[in-house]
Amino acid sequence: MFGLGKLLSRLLSVFTEDIGIDLGTANTLVSIRGVGVVVFEPSIVAMHKETREILLDGDAIGNKAKEMEDRAPANISIIRPMKDGVIADFDITQAMLRYFIHKAQQKARARSRWLSFRPRVLIAVPTGITMVERRAVIDAAERAGAGDVFLIDEPMAAAIGAGLPTGRPLGSMIVDIGGGTTEVAVISLGDMAARTSIRVAGDEMDTAIITHVKRVHDLRIGYPTAEKLKKEIGSAEGLKEEKKMEIAGISVKTSLPERAMVSSEEIREALRPTVDEIIKAIKRTLEITRPELAADVLNNGIMLAGGGSLLRGLTSVITRETGIPCRLAEDPMTCVARGTFKVLEKLELYEQVLFTSEDLNG
Ligand SMILES: Nc1ncnc2c1ncn2[C@@H]1O[C@H](COP(=O)(O)OP(=O)(O)OP(=O)(O)O)[C@@H](O)[C@H]1O
Ligand SMILES: [Mg+2]
Repeated sequence: MFGLGKLLSRLLSVFTEDIGIDLGTANTLVSIRGVGVVVFEPSIVAMHKETREILLDGDAIGNKAKEMEDRAPANISIIRPMKDGVIADFDITQAMLRYFIHKAQQKARARSRWLSFRPRVLIAVPTGITMVERRAVIDAAERAGAGDVFLIDEPMAAAIGAGLPTGRPLGSMIVDIGGGTTEVAVISLGDMAARTSIRVAGDEMDTAIITHVKRVHDLRIGYPTAEKLKKEIGSAEGLKEEKKMEIAGISVKTSLPERAMVSSEEIREALRPTVDEIIKAIKRTLEITRPELAADVLNNGIMLAGGGSLLRGLTSVITRETGIPCRLAEDPMTCVARGTFKVLEKLELYEQVLFTSEDLNG
């Protein structure tokens, strides 16, 4: 992608601080070379509806915005500036990046004297995004205070974070199920031999639950309640002990608050189409994988990462429906961030998997 010499001159200065960012639809994680993952917060921002000013003097971002999410008054918007893995609101994404980069620097500052004013930043992005969208991520990071900006494909970072042998001549499959996107890739010799990216993941599961509860229980609920149902009683296959959960929402009929009891069986039914989409994406990727690499995947199995992979029973359903053993990465939600961290630690080893703005121009 670009020459080692150029890369070395840009990357191997010991006095520069390197920051890795998993800029997710649901969560943003920031790691610092030599330190580790120092920020893990929701990708949300609370702002004034009319003026678009970020609350708390610009600090109502991440955890602080999350605290306001469920019960914000009408004049406040709680927004997610990333949607389907890409920037939906440029200015707010930039403000959010600036806030998280600054926070990460403050946390690292206690440990290191060598901090640069404009850090070099490595950002993981979904493979399905366009050149224009990649450019927008780089611009947002530069305007948020980054020096040189490098991009890495999210599944590559996830695979590295999960400890898969990405550099070897061996096919490894990674499936990263996030909030906005599911990324499936077969990686060999530091490259993606086959990949599929669909804009269906955890958020889609929440939407399916909202639709189901409205249709069956005549109740309107918000995303936080839907997500709670998914995490607490959601599953991809039958549970040993089925569960129930009581929720409250607004009755479609009376417009008054009401309660309802929801079962794990019905949530499973509601989630089925999303789970099917994910399985289809895995099968499609296998179909376009060279036979030898597909045989490697059959031998070595499928690795799941991302928050959406935590849905109960998902690994067994994927194993059954593909005939390939599927397992969960260690700490799936931090896989991409740990991947960016590993790349920063050994840049010379990974230069092949990085993109810069020059690659996008060329
Ligand atoms: N225990 C759980 N069961 C099911 N889903 C979960 C669980 N924990 C988290 N999730 C879901 O994981 C998703 C967030 O995962 P993650 O942080 O990997 O996404 P992201 O990286 O921000 O998104 P993307 O990669 O699509 O931009 C959310 O939809 C969340 O509801
Ligand atoms: Mg992600």
